Amino acid sequence: MTRTSTYQHDYLQALEQPEMFWAEQAAALNWQTPPKTILEPGADGYYRWFPDGRLNTAWLALDAQVAAGRGEQAALIYDSPVTGAREHISYRQLTERVARCAGMLRELGVGRGDRVIIYMPMVPEAVVAMLGCARLGAVHCVVFGGFAAHELAVRIDDAQADVVITASCGIEVDKVLAYKPLVDAAITEARHTVKHCVVLQRLQCQAELYQDRDLDWRQAMANAEPVEAVAVAATDPLYILYTSGTTGKPKGVVRDHGGHAVAMRYSMEAVYGMQPGDVFWAASDVGWVVGHSYIVYGPLLSGCTSVLYEGKPVRTPDAGGFWRVCAEYKVKALFAAPTAFRAIRKEDPEADLAKQYDLSHLQRLFLAGERLDPPTWAWLEQHFQRPIIDHWWQTETGWAIAANPAGYELQQAKPGSATWPMPGFQLSVLDDEGQPVPAGVQGNIALKLPLPPGCLSGIWGNPQRFRDGYLSHFPGFYQSGDAGYLDEDGYVFVMGRTDDIINVAGHRLSTGEMEEVLGSHPAVAECAVIGVPDELKGELPLGLVVLKNGVELQEPQLCAELSALVRRDIGALACFNRALVVKRLPKTRSGKILRRIMRQMAAGHSFQTPSTIDDPACLDELANQLGGNRA
Ligand code: COA
Ligand code: AMP
Repeated sequence: MTRTSTYQHDYLQALEQPEMFWAEQAAALNWQTPPKTILEPGADGYYRWFPDGRLNTAWLALDAQVAAGRGEQAALIYDSPVTGAREHISYRQLTERVARCAGMLRELGVGRGDRVIIYMPMVPEAVVAMLGCARLGAVHCVVFGGFAAHELAVRIDDAQADVVITASCGIEVDKVLAYKPLVDAAITEARHTVKHCVVLQRLQCQAELYQDRDLDWRQAMANAEPVEAVAVAATDPLYILYTSGTTGKPKGVVRDHGGHAVAMRYSMEAVYGMQPGDVFWAASDVGWVVGHSYIVYGPLLSGCTSVLYEGKPVRTPDAGGFWRVCAEYKVKALFAAPTAFRAIRKEDPEADLAKQYDLSHLQRLFLAGERLDPPTWAWLEQHFQRPIIDHWWQTETGWAIAANPAGYELQQAKPGSATWPMPGFQLSVLDDEGQPVPAGVQGNIALKLPLPPGCLSGIWGNPQRFRDGYLSHFPGFYQSGDAGYLDEDGYVFVMGRTDDIINVAGHRLSTGEMEEVLGSHPAVAECAVIGVPDELKGELPLGLVVLKNGVELQEPQLCAELSALVRRDIGALACFNRALVVKRLPKTRSGKILRRIMRQMAAGHSFQTPSTIDDPACLDELANQLGGNRA
């Protein structure tokens, strides 16, 4: 326990006196101009936190930590089993590098509010680039390295970014993946003109640089003058992070400086129980929200040491990799996706490799990114005998909506539950008409407005999509897109999405986007993509395809071609490897494809014939191919 107040006290105070509660949390930061106004309702029915405060997030994460005496403490520990590289980077060193990077970006014409795309593997330079943008008040948009050129192009266009920062390659277990050709293809495809591309050359692969546009990271950094942090309004955007929506176009979730810094600082203590000087490891990637919040900003704003791991839970070199890192760096809390532990369990079922390491510093394991299935929870409990903490959140919220609050007092965990809502989140379970449902009954999980600091301030360049996607359906609430229930004790159980988003190995993907790609194949008349359960990755996509009349293509051939298309247009991370040719897709009389019923079939569940179905016979044909029984 690290907080002096109780969970119940803080939960109630955040509910009844949100301004007082969050003003107190904000006072823990060294603002350039402390906010006088804490919460301001907007004309659009949404809210802004700390609108008259001024600060710089990178300054708080670095310079302020050095000033507080943490200059020689490791800010980042870089550990890369795929290259053998290891480096401890102190707060002082990181501050110097970030100040220089900000100088380099300023030389390239980047200023406050300008967007910079960062497409990098898990190397320290990715963190330096993020913080370098933040130091200038520029807006970073990190794109996960597993995304294909087309996805990168879409993001360049949406963000209208003039500068891209990348590396010559990423390294995946034993494969070197050249990034630069992908970046070149994306820049060519984008309608927006990228003026500069800064490239970190890695030993494993040298990228070709184009004279007028490309710069070598090391040279540019060496020539740059360090610059001071630029104070910005608390409501200025710190970053855009694209995430999958229900359509093919990803949504740019915008996070502000002020609310985000307050939420990061508070959540490191309240959710994770971390104190300055502690070593925290989020085994994720800077391309995801977990990486933004808990590899970079949360730990650094809290004076912790953060581990940056360029490896996998298995095969780099074995299923003991996580435990080696925990032992070597005295990690106090490890955060990873359940899929990572399922991969470890598969290769090391008795956790024998873990026993080879001294894990005495490791106090807790945190899991999120997908539902923590009870068998994985039980395996972790059995072999690690430490609190196993499931917590639920989303790219949009930036920090945990519900958790077993380690910074207060841990509650009795219930397998399958993320425990209680964190202070600031008012959670309701509503039916489709917006009426609350009783305890134990599943419905739409909605969050009453205002959301606490740190949650999205909007969708980049698209206020309408923000309103339509999150605020319109249940007036006065934020629609999470997740379904679940509260039990009699107020424990939250999150069961899955209510929309067409699937979760593959903790990666959030849009089936609508995959359908657009499949639909571009010349043989495909119509298609639907659904998520089917997978033991390791949670879910995998399955394509159901109706062929055009007269097309004679064998299913394996079609499947290989569709898989290649998804790889080319979305990326290998989509793991799209299965397609079935079907005669027709089940639809309502108004022509809407009944995806839910296909999901039930593919999961082997029983299903009912919906009254709105156009042709009930179609379900029998499909059940023969997919499985499932009529209820
Ligand atoms: N850059 C480029 N390609 C990437 C990539 C990256 N950063 N990450 C994944 N890929 C590629 C892989 O190389 C692989 O390509 P392949 O089909 O050509 O081999 C494909 O995407 C699928 O990768 P992955 O999902 O990592 O599958 P895997 O079978 O290699 O590993 C796990 C399985 C479970 C070990 C792995 O998925 C994992 O570590 N998951 C945890 C992810 C996570 O932390 N998610 C939570 C984010 S909060
Ligand atoms: P992302 O925005 O990529 O972080 O994905 C967020 C989605 O992942 C949520 O909307 C949930 O569907 C799912 N998710 C994340 N954490 C959990 C959890 N602890 N339990 C259940 N689902 C989760």
